[in-house]
Amino acid sequence: MVKVITYGTYDLLHYGHIRLLERAKALGDYLVVGVTADGFDRARGKINVQQPLMERIEAVRATGIADEIIVEEYEGQKIDDIRRLGIDIFTVGSDWKGHFDYLNEYCKVVYLDRTQGISSSEIRSEKREVRLGLVGESKILNKFANESKYVNGVKIVGYCSSDDSLLSDELKALPLRTTELEMLLDSVDAVYIISHPSKHYSQIKLALERGKHVLCESPIALTFQQYEELKALAQKNQCVLMDAIKTAYSTAYYRMLLLAKSGVIGDVVSVDAVCTSLSDLEAKKDSSDWTNTWNSICAWGPTAMLPIFQLLGSNYTDKVITAKMDKQHPDFDLFTKVSFIYPHAVASLKVGQGVKSEGELVISGTNGYIYVPAPWWKTEYFEVRHENPADNKRYFYQLDGEGIRYEIVSFLRATNEGQKYLYISEEDTSAIIKLIEEFNSNRISI
Ligand code: CTP
Repeated sequence: MVKVITYGTYDLLHYGHIRLLERAKALGDYLVVGVTADGFDRARGKINVQQPLMERIEAVRATGIADEIIVEEYEGQKIDDIRRLGIDIFTVGSDWKGHFDYLNEYCKVVYLDRTQGISSSEIRSEKREVRLGLVGESKILNKFANESKYVNGVKIVGYCSSDDSLLSDELKALPLRTTELEMLLDSVDAVYIISHPSKHYSQIKLALERGKHVLCESPIALTFQQYEELKALAQKNQCVLMDAIKTAYSTAYYRMLLLAKSGVIGDVVSVDAVCTSLSDLEAKKDSSDWTNTWNSICAWGPTAMLPIFQLLGSNYTDKVITAKMDKQHPDFDLFTKVSFIYPHAVASLKVGQGVKSEGELVISGTNGYIYVPAPWWKTEYFEVRHENPADNKRYFYQLDGEGIRYEIVSFLRATNEGQKYLYISEEDTSAIIKLIEEFNSNRISI
């Protein structure tokens, strides 16, 4: 019996896949199909896959062509599979020509002609391309636009900015450049907003009124009432309104959260998050115009609050907000500390753009603690530590694009399928906004 093996993602199974499977089967008597696991695809940079593993396996099974289906989970697995399953022929499409020649050592390698004119990537893009407009005055827009290139199905068509001096030449060459948000909204399906937080509410409101989806840097609004209003408007007009905190989409952060929730360090008793950076303020040193500068609680607060609210919830019983304010700019906190008290835990955050500290995250539990080194908000690495160092474990997860590309993927999914895949819940967003509101009305200044 001649045994054949082939591998693929098989996302949104199409005619090209079926032809490949038929010809692979015809090479022998028994066909094994390896379907890539979600994590493996992510690790090799394929981040847009629409269907989860089980759906993709089902689709391959439904063709009736495969005799056996396995899951491909790690680099180098092909050699293992070929030996373990006694494979005679390895085959894939000609787009991989030469790439798998090293397998000749273990079995025969055959490259089959790829079917012209069809691919999962094309189907994903065609599904519905989202025309995205950028709004704001920040160099992060350049990064965001670059990251969007890794995502199928999104096209940046223009921007609205009152000061585009920080934007790249590439963005400045976009066909649609305006200072009028209404004009941008006429030509887009969705907007990404990173304007000053004081503008968020009115800009989001306008976008939602026009039926446009919104991804906005946190805080989305400065009062809870404003957020409630925007949320209701989004619901009424069937639009997505999503908080953009890139850390929420970083694999290491997300896995760390799941681990902490699964009890590896026992009950979580304290969450302590620090985020500081001096660079933004240093750039402003000689300028009296701080119009577009975010104060520390807005710039860093949402990120620092994220692990606190996502692990302990938002029902804290008490909190103290202490801030060191700038003398010339009375709304601007150079440094803020917030202490939270929960019925069974405590938490603290420290954020600053005028004070430097170690940007680490520590989650303390009854059996051990999780340590995420600085800068924890874009880390690829964390440790679970116990009393006995022999029990410590280290975790690495590659972080591509600081989480921004995954954030865009998640936003697109939400626009296609409703608010299903949100990594930041409405409860988290509400809690962040409530705290920012409290900062403005109820803080101790030092
Ligand atoms: N394949 C093919 N003809 C096509 C598309 C894919 O023969 N038009 C083959 C690939 O060469 C591979 C297998 O089908 O051997 C699974 O490919 P996969 O990567 O899942 O599909 P693509 O459509 O190429 O996906 P993507 O666009 O995401 O790269």
